[in-house]
Amino acid sequence: MSLLPDHDRLLLGPGPSLTAPRVMRALAAPTVSHLDPIMLALLDDVRARLARVFRAPHGSFAFAVSGTGTAGMETVVANLVTDGTKVLVVVSGYFGDRLAQMCGRYGAAVTRLDVEWGRACDPEALRRALAAAGADIVAIVHAETSTGVLNPVKELAAIAREHGALVIVDAVTSLAGHPLEIDAWGIDAAYSCTQKCLGAPAGLAPVVFTPRALERRVPCRSFYFDLQLLENYWIRRAYHHTMSSTLVYAIDEALAMVEEEGLDARWARHERNHLAFVAGLAAIGLSVLPRAGERLWTLNAVRVPDGVSEADVRTLLLAEFGIEIGAGLGPLAGKIWRVGLMGSSSAPRLITVLLGALEQALAKQGWRAHG
Ligand SMILES: Cc1ncc(COP(=O)(O)O)c(C=O)c1O
Repeated sequence: MSLLPDHDRLLLGPGPSLTAPRVMRALAAPTVSHLDPIMLALLDDVRARLARVFRAPHGSFAFAVSGTGTAGMETVVANLVTDGTKVLVVVSGYFGDRLAQMCGRYGAAVTRLDVEWGRACDPEALRRALAAAGADIVAIVHAETSTGVLNPVKELAAIAREHGALVIVDAVTSLAGHPLEIDAWGIDAAYSCTQKCLGAPAGLAPVVFTPRALERRVPCRSFYFDLQLLENYWIRRAYHHTMSSTLVYAIDEALAMVEEEGLDARWARHERNHLAFVAGLAAIGLSVLPRAGERLWTLNAVRVPDGVSEADVRTLLLAEFGIEIGAGLGPLAGKIWRVGLMGSSSAPRLITVLLGALEQALAKQGWRAHG
């Protein structure tokens, strides 16, 4: 008996999103070794495509590290943070907290700028925090997946720059879903994942270091995430670890799809589908947690109505409709559902199916929108 799934799930949670059929076909290509000429050509292609998708300045090193988004986070932190580095971390949810913890593990003197969960960071709060404490590095989660809130990274990065700090950005839930401009916004290093807006399976983490970040790198304590060793592999072809060719096929195909759609058109698709979903929610009497102007297009934090069991609705959606949505984390556990509309999962037909299924799941619990 096989334990493999024989039908697909509608992946509408915080990630992974649906893998596009083209990317699925890429996954079936023959395995090659990590130093095969075919692989090396693919690595060059991935580097060039990622630099464009990150909109990184000339001279940046954009690549994909083996591992998930957290490996991307660790790569950036491990190569820029050392004992005593002063890092100011904007913590507006679960992943900001993870970033603060990661910096602490690499020896940073961390100052947290805590923001109420469900709100975006006010640029003036960052200005005050920097005036009070100063920082070598400001670290910001662009799209906080735990709350569905978008931080104003362009404004925050400009303030950090005024104070001479390097800017690190977590773009795990924003790359290829929301506008993100590494060069134009003055971001120095960023990381993301493959399993959300890029539409590939989990397993690689896109990372970019701009020339300014490359200059400020520190001796890296991690062997696996050492930028120097990773550059030696990606650029100078020296063995470092056995990178998965299968995952490289997937990311390359996913990036090709992003570039064929066009970044601007892809951002607009994510916005359009988010707005359609929020309008559909309103029509059945539901709303999202963040206020207008602070909402992610990629991840919708839907309020659970009073008297409704958050977990029962998710269980029913999965069992009866094969739809996955996510639960709330931390203080938002039991209070929100997290609905991801990312990559191939950002599509009108899926929104229609989800809204219908949600209405039925709520009706089963005796909940009616207007009465
Ligand atoms: C904003 C953010 N940062 C970091 C991560 C960690 O990524 P991963 O679970 O791929 O390691 C996630 C995961 O959802 C995330 O949403």
